[in-house]
Amino acid sequence: PPLSSLINLDDFEQSFAKSGSQKSHAYISGASNDLLTLNANKSFWQKLWFRPRIMRNVSIVNTKTTMFGCDVVMPVWICPMGVAKTAGPEGETALGAGAAASGIIHCMSTPASFSIEDILASAPKTYPFFFQLYVDKQRHKTEAVLQKLETMDQVKALFITVDLAVVSKREADERIRTQEDTTSVYMSGQKNKIDKKGGGLARTTGSFIDWAFSWEDLAWVRKHSSLPIVVKGIQSAADAKMAMEMGCQGIVVSNHGGRALDSAPATILILLELRRDCPEIFDKMEVHIDGGVRRGSDILKAVCLGARAVGVGRPFQCSVAYDREGVETAAAILQDELETAMRLCGVTNLDQARGDLSYLNTSELE
Ligand code: FNR
Repeated sequence: PPLSSLINLDDFEQSFAKSGSQKSHAYISGASNDLLTLNANKSFWQKLWFRPRIMRNVSIVNTKTTMFGCDVVMPVWICPMGVAKTAGPEGETALGAGAAASGIIHCMSTPASFSIEDILASAPKTYPFFFQLYVDKQRHKTEAVLQKLETMDQVKALFITVDLAVVSKREADERIRTQEDTTSVYMSGQKNKIDKKGGGLARTTGSFIDWAFSWEDLAWVRKHSSLPIVVKGIQSAADAKMAMEMGCQGIVVSNHGGRALDSAPATILILLELRRDCPEIFDKMEVHIDGGVRRGSDILKAVCLGARAVGVGRPFQCSVAYDREGVETAAAILQDELETAMRLCGVTNLDQARGDLSYLNTSELE
């Protein structure tokens, strides 16, 4: 379908289901085992209701905010996603260019299909990016990545992904035993393995991840990087507190979009747990969330619960099928939906709503 016919983020995923190869669609849309967490992420956003306020002057709304010191036009970042060339030839360069044109930030993935240099070059010279790190079993490789990042001024934060100690079972991906010619630069273009488990593109892409990585190792990362450290994949108040005590600058409440542990809780439930059991962390570090965010109203809900910003994954990956224009269009749709939700809720800037439950009814989730 033509780009102009897509009017919401689900349209991008549905369009890719038709236009993408079977294998790339299985890789991108897929999740673990029975897809319980994948589906819960999305449906639990729909169990939060607003408490709209009326007759406030909403002629001007401001969606701007900052993330780790970077100015952004709205509280949205593009999630790190492996091998974006599976969605379209421009891959991560479309995500980088589209994010920059839209005023939001792309978090590059360790297993990207372009080099860090090429992705940075897709945006204006001083435009900010974040980098997502998987720690390698061969630690010297991770050290080399961290060393390289130290020389790259455009990279403003290090998101360390910790919810995928091992790659989970992605059945749709395993069932399709065709070989993709695009895997990551990090894995030096290694093709997906076809073996008795199946055709695992995700399995091959993530086979280097160190399952021994633990809390003590954060000090080792700190030694090799001066970037703000953000732990991506927090799924409990206990671990959120741990990240705060270890001096991290931020966390992402995430279950990897349902691609890690199946039956992990919907991320919105975790955010509610943090509010209940460790509300102090919201003042001490930036709390972000991702998983199933598809509407501007979801973004406003996350902000009302105290989130700094939200990550959006699959719809942006699918938008790469339309190159950078696709990415820009998806971002523009979210921006427009967020402004509309704010106006109809009686909220004119994000600080007014952040952490304020007077705009939300959470009773269905309590
Ligand atoms: C991911 N995700 C991911 N996360 C990460 O930290 N490093 C990575 O390389 C990848 N790769 C990846 C590939 C694909 C195709 C998808 C869909 C996801 C997880 C991602 O960053 C994010 O947590 C989820 O995608 C958010 O959920 P939604 O928005 O896709 O529902």
